[in-house]
This record gives sequence, structure tokens and C-alpha cells, in this order.
Amino acid sequence: MIFGRAAGPAARTIGGMGSASGIESRRQIRKLPALLINQIAAGEVIERPASVVKELVENALDAGATRIEVDLEGGGVELVRVRDDGCGIWREELVLALSPHATSKIRDAEDLDRIVTMGFRGEALASITSVARVRVVSKPRGQSEAWEICGEGEDIAEPRPAAGAPGTLIEVRNLFFNTPARRKFLRTAPTEQGRCIEWLTDLAIAHASVGFIVRCDGRVRLETGPDQEPRQRVLALLGEELEGELIEVRADRFEDARGLTLWGLVGRPTIARATPKAQHVFLNGRAVRDRTIQHALKESYRGLVEPGRHPTAVLLIEMSPTAVDVNVHPAKLEVRFRDQSAVHQAVLHAVREALRKSDLTPPVSGRRHEAGAGLPGAGFPGAGGGGGPRVRHEEHVRPEALVDFLKRGPLPPPAAIRASLDELAPGDSPASMRRDAEPAQVEPEPDESLPSPRRADRVLQIHNSYLVTQDESGIVIIDQHALHERVMFERLAARVGREPLESQQLLSPASVHATRRQMERVEELQPLLDRCGIALRAMGPRTLGVESFPSLLFQRGVDPVEFMTELLEKAESEEFTPSDESALHEVLDMMACKAAIKAGDHMSEQEMDELLRLRESVDRSSSCPHGRPTSVRLSIEQLEKLFHRR
Ligand SMILES: Nc1ncnc2c1ncn2[C@@H]1O[C@H](COP(=O)(O)OP(=O)(O)OP(=O)(O)O)[C@@H](O)[C@H]1O
Ligand SMILES: [Mg+2]
Repeated sequence: MIFGRAAGPAARTIGGMGSASGIESRRQIRKLPALLINQIAAGEVIERPASVVKELVENALDAGATRIEVDLEGGGVELVRVRDDGCGIWREELVLALSPHATSKIRDAEDLDRIVTMGFRGEALASITSVARVRVVSKPRGQSEAWEICGEGEDIAEPRPAAGAPGTLIEVRNLFFNTPARRKFLRTAPTEQGRCIEWLTDLAIAHASVGFIVRCDGRVRLETGPDQEPRQRVLALLGEELEGELIEVRADRFEDARGLTLWGLVGRPTIARATPKAQHVFLNGRAVRDRTIQHALKESYRGLVEPGRHPTAVLLIEMSPTAVDVNVHPAKLEVRFRDQSAVHQAVLHAVREALRKSDLTPPVSGRRHEAGAGLPGAGFPGAGGGGGPRVRHEEHVRPEALVDFLKRGPLPPPAAIRASLDELAPGDSPASMRRDAEPAQVEPEPDESLPSPRRADRVLQIHNSYLVTQDESGIVIIDQHALHERVMFERLAARVGREPLESQQLLSPASVHATRRQMERVEELQPLLDRCGIALRAMGPRTLGVESFPSLLFQRGVDPVEFMTELLEKAESEEFTPSDESALHEVLDMMACKAAIKAGDHMSEQEMDELLRLRESVDRSSSCPHGRPTSVRLSIEQLEKLFHRR
């Protein structure tokens, strides 16, 4: 109704049908009736049954419940019932509990700056009552009697004695019974039920000490004991079988009021998803959607997952309530940090470190790790199926095929490898890259705990493309190009962080044809090119001359004209912002890709050894800068299974 009225004057003006006098069209300003006010307010907070579930469970948590029971019928549209063993509501406060702007959680504006409860606005129950039939039965702790109150729309009955256990039971029936337009927007019962379960899963993850039982139309859908450890709770809810796919993250930066502690489980790159929906971020027990944290997560996986894929994560963040404003979103889904960059840093650093310390080499598997497919328990709830690029390595590595190969494949004679050693021109070896590498002291220390190929182990090059070796856990198969690319990228990135790349002057400038748009962008590109050791000069309206070029690319025989043409094409895109770190990384990645050993290049034993040594010394060596894996592992257990030894 209200929308119909508001649209009136605008429609008249546009259609030219307004009365000439304007008097008939005059609309008086009136105070809205209380019910309508509440229904409008409810529109922001109560969108669907899942919102009711969220509000009621949050109230139970605020009441200090240790056990919360939830019953849903008809996807929650017909009934949402939440029973808790919390502090209860006193008889004389029952009417207030259903009234707007009445809360026991804050008193003044100062309290608003340090919110420690999930609720604080005193509007949820009033909003729900304005659009549904509500019954509250409560017996406060230490009281002998339970009292009940019913409300629907505007009508709130007097409290009356009832039977009930200590704590509170709230039933919400026939959601939107008096607002049919809103009811029409609801989806099917299974869909609405699914959304309720997603919220309940999130609330249960964030409150591991509280026991939850959720029944849908009488059948138990989710049950957790009280007093669980966060890890135990996450695995119980997301699926125990995910354990091997998750990496623990911790940070403790509580040195000042803006500090935070963080605990979480982040997914291996192989279980990254097509959407960020499988990222569950909680702040002080509240599920939040926060772009800063999403960005930090994305950054920490940069180069570990392919573009367009999103890491999976559960992050529980605790910080001082004074360091964050939770009063910025109607459903409290978004928050505002006082020090956004400190939060970004803390998350980025913690996740990056955890990933760095982990051996991310994916196992060889016939199965694709695609959006939870094959991972029972659906893994991260809310992730859905989803397409997106497939994890390419899974396509061509089948353990059976590899075992077949190892059983019958001809091994190159050692003499041939030795002979190629002698032919090795110094500039061709990955060892030569060490001239461009940073001094030893800034190399990241290899983490001793990670399995790595043993120096004395033999390395085998297969089809001039893959290296096969062993580590403590089994057989490691390496994509020579992808690994070399990653190694070079890391070295280049470290180098550029300190000084511009070493470059070489061309005897005469190499001319590159450029489009008008590319010519316009050259100036903007200049600082980036300087850092990369590339000097350009305009030689004509559409011609650029490459005057100097990175020594590394020279040594690896990369053609300056080809390279620059590709770079200029990249720079034409809207997303390429030369001043951004990501643009620099793109250029470095291009360099690494061009300079790296190609699939099909024969490698000497010395080169292979060198590459394996470098694998241990750089970060993120498990995947190339595009996020594709550089190595996969066939474990001894897998071998034993394949050969029917166990
Ligand atoms: N399960 C419960 N146990 C004990 N008290 C409750 C419970 N649910 C509601 N209350 C009481 O009713 C009041 C109103 O609840 P309501 O959810 O409407 O507001 P709120 O939680 O204070 O704020 P918000 O609107 O932000 O949720 C609460 O402040 C609390 O005192
Ligand atoms: Mg509330």
C-alpha cells in the first residue's frame, strides 16, 4: 500500500495526468500507524524464515543458553520454534520484549560504542510480531512459574501462567500472514529450509560451546553436543572428511585495543570454489560479510588458486567491541572497523603464514576436487555446486596411468643424462638464474617440517615435461614449466621489491607497433616499466622503440618485440592499473612464464637437481603464479592400495 501511494505523484507527472489545480493531488503528511511502522521496520530485518531463525537464536545466545533447540515446519514459514535454557524473561517484561525499541542489552549511546551482545536494537521481536503469530513462554532462572504471552500484528495479549521449563521458548507461526505481498516473495519450503540451515550452521560454528539440535518437520537435521572445541565443531558441521583439506590459522595481536585474535581453518587451494560463499567469517560471534577480510583472504591465496576461484575458509575473529561498529547494517551483516588496514594485515599475514608452512602439494587423484563434488557432507555450506574452471592437473594425472608408466616405461639411460650435462651452456641452466636471485640471507628459510625430495634421490624427466622424484610420503610429480615459472616469479618479485631489475641496452632499439590507446598509456606505464628494466621511446605516432630490456629475458632468448606487444595489449585492459601491485605481478608473471623452461625442453640432471633445490627455497612452490599446481603427490598409501597390498 505504502509503495502504491508514494508512486502516485511521480506517475502523474510522468504521464502528464495530474490535475491542473494540484489540489486533488495534494497528499497530507500524516503520522503512520504503529503497526505499519513496525511492518516497515520488519521489512529491513525480517526478510524470510531464516531471518526469524537468526534473530531468535541470537536472542537465545544473548540469554546465555548452553543448549538451543530449533524446530522448523514448512521451511520455517509455517513454524519456527526456538527453545533455550538461558536466563529467561520476567513476567512483567514480556510485553516489553514484544514491543519496539525495548531492549535489556544497551542503555545509552556509550553502550552503543561497545556492543558485546548479538542484539541491541530492541526491534527483532517487535518486527517479527508485526508480521507473524508469536508465542513466548518463559521461566526465568530461579523462578518457580512460567508465563506466556501471545502477539500477532498489533494485538498483544496479557501474560498468563503456563507450563514451561527454565529458559525461553519462542514460536513464530505463519510468517507474513498479514503481508501477502511479502509472503509471495518466499521461495519453496525446501529452499527456505536450506537458508535456515545455513544460518544455523554458521551460528553453531561461531558458538562451539553451545549445544544445538535442529529438527525440520520432526526429523533431526543438525545436532551438536555442547562444549566443543572450535575445530571439532567446524568438522562436525562441515564434514569430518574435510579434515585433510583444511589448514589451521592462528593469530594473536591483542597488543592494543585495536588488536585481534584469530583462529580458523582455511581450505587447501584444491578445494577453492567458484564463489566466495564458502567463506565463513565471524567477528565476535557474529557472521559477517566483509570486503576487507574477503580481500585479505584472496590476497593470501594469490597465485595459489586460479583466477576466478575463491578460497574456502572459516575464520573466527575476536576483537575489542570498541574497535568495531556493528550498527551499520539492518541485519548486522556488515561491520565497520576502526582500523580496517590492521584487520586486513592481520588476516593476510596469518593466512599467508599458515599456507607457507603447509605442504600444499595436492595428492594424485582420479577425482576432481570440484566445488565439493565427491566431498560428502557438502563441505562448506552455502557453497552450492558451481562451475568455474576445473582444476586442470586432475585431468591428466591418473594414478593408474602413472603406475602403468612406471611399471613398463623405458628409463632414459644414465649415460644420456650425463652426456647432456656436458653440453649444458651456462646461460641455459636454472642455476644461472641465481645471478638474478637475491642474496642468500633474504631467501625464505625452507620449513624443515615439509616433506621435500631428498637430495640424493634420483629425478626422472618424463616426456621432457614432467619430473618424477620421491619424498618421505611418496612419489612427487612436477610440472617443470609451472615450477620453474613459480621459482622465477618469486625471485623476480623479491628483486623488484628492492631495486629495478637489471637490464641490458639494445644495440639499436627494437620497434614495436602500438595502437593509439597503447601509445596514450605509455606514460602511465613508465614507472612500472622502469622497475622491470624496460626502457621505451616513441619512434613515431604508432611506433615504440625498446631501448633496454631485462637481462634475464635476454639470457632466456625472449624476443623484446613479442614481449612488448603482449605487455601493451595487457595494459590496454580497463582492469590493468599500472600503479597497482597486481599490475607489477602480472608483468613479472609474464616474464617468469616466458623465461621458464618449457614443456618439451630437455633438462640435464644438474638442472633438475637445481630446480628441486629451488622448489624448497621459495614460497608457494606448490602452484604456479596462475594458481595451477606445480607438483602432485602419489602417496605410498595410494600405491599400496593400487597394488592391492592393503
Ligand atoms: N530467548 C530469550 N531469552 C531471554 N530474553 C530474551 C530472549 N529473547 C528476547 N529476550 C529479551 O527481549 C528483548 C527484546 O528482544 P529483541 O530481539 O526484540 O531485541 P534485542 O535482542 O534487544 O535487540 P535486536 O533487535 O538487535 O535483536 C531482549 O533485549 C531480551 O531482553
Ligand atoms: Mg534480538
